[in-house]
Amino acid sequence: MSEEQQQSDHRTRPKSEAFRSFIAQGWAERSTQAPARADFADYTQPRREALSAQFPGERLVIPAGGLKVRSNDSDYVFRPHSAFAHLTGLGADREPDAVLVMEPIVDEEGEDAGHEPVLFFRPLAGRDTEEFFADSRYGEFWVGGRPTLSEIESELGVRARHIDEFPDAVAKDAGSIGVRVVRDADAEVRGLIDQARSTEAQTEERTEQQREMDAEFARQLSTSRMVKDDYEIQQMRDAVEATGHGFDAVIADLPEAIKRGRGERWVEGIFGLYARHEGNGVGYDSICASGDHANTLHWIKNTGDVKEGDLLLLDAGVEVDSLYTADITRTLPVSGTFSDVQRKVYDAVYAAQCAGFEAIKPGNKFSDVHAAAIRVIAEHLNAWGLLPDGVGVEETLNAETGMYHRRWMVHGTSHHLGLDVHDCARARAEDYVDGELRPGMILTVEPGLYFKSDDLLVPEEFRGIGVRIEDDVLVTDTGYDNLSGFMPRSSDEVEAWIAGIWAKS
Ligand code: GLY
Ligand code: MN
Repeated sequence: MSEEQQQSDHRTRPKSEAFRSFIAQGWAERSTQAPARADFADYTQPRREALSAQFPGERLVIPAGGLKVRSNDSDYVFRPHSAFAHLTGLGADREPDAVLVMEPIVDEEGEDAGHEPVLFFRPLAGRDTEEFFADSRYGEFWVGGRPTLSEIESELGVRARHIDEFPDAVAKDAGSIGVRVVRDADAEVRGLIDQARSTEAQTEERTEQQREMDAEFARQLSTSRMVKDDYEIQQMRDAVEATGHGFDAVIADLPEAIKRGRGERWVEGIFGLYARHEGNGVGYDSICASGDHANTLHWIKNTGDVKEGDLLLLDAGVEVDSLYTADITRTLPVSGTFSDVQRKVYDAVYAAQCAGFEAIKPGNKFSDVHAAAIRVIAEHLNAWGLLPDGVGVEETLNAETGMYHRRWMVHGTSHHLGLDVHDCARARAEDYVDGELRPGMILTVEPGLYFKSDDLLVPEEFRGIGVRIEDDVLVTDTGYDNLSGFMPRSSDEVEAWIAGIWAKS
């Protein structure tokens, strides 16, 4: 449930019965037409059925989470937990405090017959309630209307009940049947479940067992999102396309970013405008890193200038309303052309990324992508004489004795991508890094090279250059489809991209 806000005692609200009845009447009738079933409902149903088959006979509790206080009486914009979004289809800011419960059912013979999904939800309050006009967190006057129970049932194709009925419903038989909860979604729901399923003879061992059941539940939920269905793939295509528009807009405005000072913030704002306009927002804080800031991997302060002659590393992604996000990086020469040394570093990263792509096909391991890309990185570092004396490519690639190249690329090459920017993060290593690539998976390929300005082990001309190139790639039956492949990548293509946009603006 939502965090408690600070209440101000200087606020007055009308209390008289006369006012209550005055504000409750004189409004047009609400539409009684049921909303259409959402286009995602045909996809969320099989997702829930797959989950049901994994946990027969158990009650499964998946909260959306509640509102979080930003300061005093103002909340952050709400975003539901990704497991909830995946299983209900609800995205954007829907719906604070809601909880999806997968209730186990038995047939007439007493046999397990799957689960019934029930959405516990705070429906639209009547105009005769105080909430209607006086509740700044949930009230229609303040934050707009919400669906009624029957409206949300028609939209999602799932039975809905009032959130007030949730505590009793979830506690019923909780000591005797298996109950699992997504622990990190909602502290109050978690507490309720822990209390409800503890028995008089609760031991530490039993508590530990319940925690492990929840951990296994989280792992399964995370793992189940690895292979995307057709709806999810289309959402990802939309997210990537909108991200491309944001990058185009940033390029068009680079001269303005230079002129204004604090240009990294200008870049963040331009990209954010497109993200918010075409989607729900950014899928993670944009990394707008000019010059040496590119060597801080998650540079999200974005307080620096964008200067002529710099490279601007822009790592940003639009999250569409369904909450699927892109995650794309381009490293752009701010003046429109790469210097020789910038190009040398850029082309090395480009070659590494191409090698990573070629490792993407069903049956290959997820880790093969990194292995292919990092080999090319190591080869370049070796050719440039940067590895320690006596260390060659094979020595540095040997995890036991080497890894010297990590000084200049400390991160992995890929991660799963989807509802979370680092999607499926709870999956076991054997399903993730050591798992096989399967059609429908979407992953990033994002090698980089980072030469900090104070790195005395690299030639002076390299210092302050940081490059990352990142694309979002779908594994297909025969290989891969680079969803962001329409965005220029090679150094020549990037220069032509910038020149083309500037010629038009
Ligand atoms: N785009 C940021 C990251 O992958 O960590
Ligand atoms: Mn990434």
